[in-house]
Amino acid sequence: MVRPARRADVAAVSAIDAEITGLPKLEHWLELHSRQRRSAAVAGGLFLVAVAAEEPGRVVGFIVGEIRAWEFGSAPCGWVYALSVASGWRLRGVGETLLAAIGAQFRAAGIRKMRTMVARDNLLPMRFFRGEGMMAGPYIQLEKDLE
Ligand SMILES: CC(C)(COP(=O)(O)OP(=O)(O)OC[C@H]1O[C@@H](n2cnc3c(N)ncnc32)[C@H](O)[C@@H]1OP(=O)(O)O)[C@@H](O)C(=O)NCCC(=O)NCCS
Repeated sequence: MVRPARRADVAAVSAIDAEITGLPKLEHWLELHSRQRRSAAVAGGLFLVAVAAEEPGRVVGFIVGEIRAWEFGSAPCGWVYALSVASGWRLRGVGETLLAAIGAQFRAAGIRKMRTMVARDNLLPMRFFRGEGMMAGPYIQLEKDLE
């Protein structure tokens, strides 16, 4: 089941992220959750968790997004910033369900384009997002080191 994240879920979100990245950052996820609650842009929110049907209350995955408008000349679109599923719960459709749920939230807000960013060499999310129909978009990310 997918539902809006509650503050009490954020520790589990941070633990899933830390398992993947090796970098615990509870404060970051708490701040993101607070920011989502302050923004009334989308009823139901864009910080969602998947909970295990067999263990109600156990958070097994999460997705976070935001609607941004007119940056880089882009018409309003829905960004997916983070999507993770706990390692023991993968390949059961949880990631797909979370992506569909946030897509439905974007659509309900009138948004017709969803975007994310993936590291070129990170094949797992690349395969996942490609499998979900997401393709290279019209923008190229540019960057440089600042001394
Ligand atoms: C990427 C991730 C979110 C996928 O979650 P998931 O719940 O395992 O994905 P699903 O079970 O919904 O899989 C949906 C589709 O994705 C693709 N996919 C998922 N995992 C895959 C893998 N290990 N290898 C190849 N394809 C894969 C498949 O096409 C799959 O469809 P299928 O089941 O019909 O074959 C999960 O692996 C994860 O959290 N990875 C680590 C963090 C990460 O990379 N996050 C994404 C970027 S922020």
